[in-house]
Amino acid sequence: MVDSKYCSESLVVKTSIVFPTDTNTYGTLFGGKLMAYIDDTAAIAAMRHARRHIVTASTDSVDFLHPIYEGNSVCLEAFVTYTGTSSMEVFVKVTAEDLLSGVKNLCALSFLTMVAIDEHGKPTAVPQVVPQTEEEVSLFESGKVRAEMRRNRKVETQELARKYKSK
Ligand SMILES: CC(C)(COP(=O)(O)OP(=O)(O)OC[C@H]1O[C@@H](n2cnc3c(N)ncnc32)[C@H](O)[C@@H]1OP(=O)(O)O)[C@@H](O)C(=O)NCCC(=O)NCCS
Repeated sequence: MVDSKYCSESLVVKTSIVFPTDTNTYGTLFGGKLMAYIDDTAAIAAMRHARRHIVTASTDSVDFLHPIYEGNSVCLEAFVTYTGTSSMEVFVKVTAEDLLSGVKNLCALSFLTMVAIDEHGKPTAVPQVVPQTEEEVSLFESGKVRAEMRRNRKVETQELARKYKSK
């Protein structure tokens, strides 16, 4: 396994057009559809980084900042920003474009954590990530705090799961 990789080596860019079958009753992209796109794009970025099978361990909150209308293009950019031992933080940025006017809006941002899995289904080590651009360095430097926040959140979720487990 290589020791380290640049963020740019995992970059995924996915652009598609919003069709009527992708929308809610209000004529904007269905939130669940966008979340599937986000997970899909992040998974490809993580597999490019690790060259391993991966699973989604968690998704941080997704705030829908701006509606994405039928007929818009929707572009997702994802890359690995921070790594632990087996986990990779992937940043996903979603931009919509009105294809007639050219106006673009930043519609959502999300961080997901993907974990590399070996042939026995166990977490396995991934290369470290090397940031280069200002944006990559900023995301890398803040990654440690977010990873700690997720560890704490998982403990809280496990406590809730114990409390509400089905009988
Ligand atoms: C994610 C999973 C592989 C973690 O396995 P585990 O036995 O808990 O392993 P560990 O506790 O050693 O964690 C492995 C790594 O994942 C990270 N991790 C585990 N749960 C996490 C969570 N909820 N959020 C973020 N990171 C998480 C750990 O911090 C650790 O990172 P590191 O190796 O970089 O230090 C396991 O919980 C799993 O398979 N979950 C289901 C995943 C899935 O099915 N996803 C699809 C959704 S349906």
